[in-house]
Amino acid sequence: MNITITGTGYVGLVTGVCLSDVGHQIICLDINQEKISLLQQGISPIYEPGLDELIQKNLRENRLTFTTDVKEAYSQADCIFIAVGTPQSEDGSADLSYIEQVALEMAKTITKDIIVVTKSTVPVGTNEWVGRIIREHAAPGIQIKVVSNPEFLREGSAIYDTFHGDRIVIGSDDKAAGETIANIYEPFQLPIVHTDLRSAEMIKYASNSFLALKISFINEIANLCERVGGNIEYVAEGVGLDKRIGSKFLQAGIGFGGSCFPKDINALNHLANDYDYDFKILKSVIDVNKIQQSRLFEKAKQHFGSLAGKRVAVLGLTFKPNTDDIRAAASLKLIQELLLEDAVITAYDPIGMPNVQKIYGDKIQYAESAEQALNNAEAAFILTEWDEIKNLPLEKFKTAMVEPIIFDGRNCFSLNDVKKFGIKYYSIGRPIIE
Ligand SMILES: NC(=O)c1ccc[n+]([C@@H]2O[C@H](COP(=O)([O-])OP(=O)(O)OC[C@H]3O[C@@H](n4cnc5c(N)ncnc54)[C@H](O)[C@@H]3O)[C@@H](O)[C@H]2O)c1
Repeated sequence: MNITITGTGYVGLVTGVCLSDVGHQIICLDINQEKISLLQQGISPIYEPGLDELIQKNLRENRLTFTTDVKEAYSQADCIFIAVGTPQSEDGSADLSYIEQVALEMAKTITKDIIVVTKSTVPVGTNEWVGRIIREHAAPGIQIKVVSNPEFLREGSAIYDTFHGDRIVIGSDDKAAGETIANIYEPFQLPIVHTDLRSAEMIKYASNSFLALKISFINEIANLCERVGGNIEYVAEGVGLDKRIGSKFLQAGIGFGGSCFPKDINALNHLANDYDYDFKILKSVIDVNKIQQSRLFEKAKQHFGSLAGKRVAVLGLTFKPNTDDIRAAASLKLIQELLLEDAVITAYDPIGMPNVQKIYGDKIQYAESAEQALNNAEAAFILTEWDEIKNLPLEKFKTAMVEPIIFDGRNCFSLNDVKKFGIKYYSIGRPIIE
């Protein structure tokens, strides 16, 4: 089969590379010439552990091609996976303009019967709409079948997740088309859930919303622990050992960010509104997260009174460790809040700094190491639990800072350890160490 993947972002690139690695012939298409040029040289434009090596291996073995040429990618394809972005529109809905553009380009270029597979996260009903657009604009006589195949990989462990995912969801109203796509995934030997188109689309939104709900729930319990006394670490452990609940996504912190949860929850809420359904829990998940993302800033304001002129270190900028993705990261909100207060910011992240630099330029300073960021700082904020940051010796905070005080949004350090070093320590859902 000739398989094309449209979009070489986190999802499309990893999917394309992993499918080629199990023996498929894959063409990856993107409109971004810069990305494609890098990929043709075996360089990944995104940071994802292990990805460069896998790209180079499959380029060498001639199973992987990168192109910006729509004709080369579509004209002989038997199957096209769509993995372009579906960012949030101003009104909270999913922006489907990239999907529409791809459908129109495909319609004009395909020459034979085809299965179109949507991996992008799209609202219920989108796959049917994509099918209609292509059928309307394609040459007569060409058969177009659509399959919904939502993606569940996590940035930072995307390759592992593709090979070891919990399940593959394949939604189609055409049994044969669904089977064909299931066969493509056969080498991964993963459980496959076959559904209709609309259920598959809903599974993706329901999964992300439920995970976000767990985070907002534990954050609310953490906030309450701070008031009533108690330690969220113990609470989360005691709750999470209940197998009906599970311990994952019960880490209290500065809230969720990233390219998926915030926009997907808003998109599901928008969809519910469109169908006159008041999705109360979902609205709360969004509200709680907004407040949570400001918790560290509020704690610092309360501690210092004013942050004007204060030299602060911001450690960790990406929305989670092991990725360069800063979309909707809590760090961006904190930096904005600190800048409005006229704080003097030095930021450090092992991977994410170039992306933050594109947004904040010289409004903030960038350090070459966490230690350098801490030099002479009057407060340290921890936003991402990179190993490098979690493993920073507490001694460094003490020796480098004017007076050691940490506002930790990821609960990286043990309360006993910070106490031993005489550091003032504000974390989430745990007692303050003065
Ligand atoms: N990032 C994740 O962890 C993740 C996980 C699961 C699902 N998803 C979903 O997968 C989709 C893609 O996400 P992403 O993070 O990979 O996006 P991304 O923004 O990293 O990549 C999208 C790519 O599509 C390309 N593109 C846009 N229009 C194009 C066109 N007409 N032809 C060819 N290429 C085009 C862009 O240049 C870009 O490289 C989204 O719907 C997202 O919600 C993402």
